[in-house]
Amino acid sequence: MFLHRLRLTHFRNYRHLDLVFEAPWTLLQGNNAQGKTNLLEAIFMLATSKAIHATQEREVVGWQAQEEPIPYCRVSGEVQTDGRLLEVEILLTQREDGVSFTKQIRVNGSPRRAMDVVGLLRAVLFLPEDIKLIDGGPAERRRYLDIALCQLDRRYCQSLAAFQRVLAQRNNLLKQLRDREISPTAPAVDAQLAFWDEKLAEQGARVIAGRHNFLLKLEQIAAERHAMLSGGREHLMLHYVPSFNPGLFSEQEFTLWRDGLLPEAPRVPLAAEQVQSAYLQKLATRRARELVAGATLYGPHRDDLRILANGRDLRLYGSRGQQRSAALSLKLAEVRVMTEVGGSAPLLLLDDVMSELDAERRALLLAVIDDAPQVIVTTTDWEDFTPEFRRRARCFRVCSGIVEAVNLE
Ligand SMILES: Nc1ncnc2c1ncn2[C@@H]1O[C@H](COP(=O)(O)OP(=O)(O)OP(=O)(O)O)[C@@H](O)[C@H]1O
Ligand SMILES: [Mg+2]
Repeated sequence: MFLHRLRLTHFRNYRHLDLVFEAPWTLLQGNNAQGKTNLLEAIFMLATSKAIHATQEREVVGWQAQEEPIPYCRVSGEVQTDGRLLEVEILLTQREDGVSFTKQIRVNGSPRRAMDVVGLLRAVLFLPEDIKLIDGGPAERRRYLDIALCQLDRRYCQSLAAFQRVLAQRNNLLKQLRDREISPTAPAVDAQLAFWDEKLAEQGARVIAGRHNFLLKLEQIAAERHAMLSGGREHLMLHYVPSFNPGLFSEQEFTLWRDGLLPEAPRVPLAAEQVQSAYLQKLATRRARELVAGATLYGPHRDDLRILANGRDLRLYGSRGQQRSAALSLKLAEVRVMTEVGGSAPLLLLDDVMSELDAERRALLLAVIDDAPQVIVTTTDWEDFTPEFRRRARCFRVCSGIVEAVNLE
């Protein structure tokens, strides 16, 4: 996996950029607000097809694009993947309404669906705010799992997209039933709900099983990393906490598990079929409740990932240092799982993370970087890196959306 070249047009503060990556290590230095994060966001967009820092995709379109007859934004990359050289391109073009944008994706010039490009370039992004994975809300953790898994498993990505579509439609129906006070037992309505339940359970079960099984792999490696960082004092556990019993527990155990009172998880992989029947049953028994709420109350959109050290939930009880170590361990584990499952090492993107880390965490991160075929790192301060690192890396300076090679000798 290697990104040879990145080209941007009207992407955030980059009017035009054509950057060739030749060395395994690239170090980008720049003062605040010059475009370091924007550059990594563009690369991560090639990997995931999504703009990670934007709430709406049109935010990534450069303000200067308004000068164009039809405003647009283009990100393209030459990617070496599984022995092939591919040109991956994402194009956002303003619609006639003058507000929204259409997204087109091409690989070697041929149009593709978003989910078909995810995984062509696999990348792991390290951010100073990664600690949010531990102390933030469940949505943050679900998004993390989804981004990692989508890059690894195309079928997961398809199921997730299908689940989201079905969820929106089912929610719509439940809301209509509630607002219009239509009897849910009317035969037509009943059949309609049964239809959506079936679809929801089918796709949702794949998502739940996918996440649970991925975490089993991730946990092993993350625990090793965390043990190193804590001098062997802390044992890290990653627990998937679903919103209904997927068939792993008795009902009584499940309540304890959900509330964090069952210390040991059954470490067994889940089969999607098993989850599907449990999910369907849950939907059938809780239909009345969902009709009152006018929304789908059970499923992967309500699940969480619990991260524990020595049996205690780090979100609730962890110190900042413990949380930071856990977040780093999780990310490092992701790199390893991606390498093993994906068959080649992912591209590592490190956004200004060195200055946040103490010597020990820095050393662990640097050890992982050492093996990686390609690492792109940003910093405000050259001094965050040893002279040796700077000698081995290709160095650039980022200034107002312009990137220039520098020779530090
Ligand atoms: N759509 C956009 N069009 C033009 N400029 C934008 C757009 N979105 C963001 N910017 C600008 O990009 C600038 C650089 O952002 P970026 O986050 O990449 O900086 P940075 O180099 O990572 O800085 P820091 O060191 O503070 O993290 C911001 O100051 C912002 O004004
Ligand atoms: Mg930044």
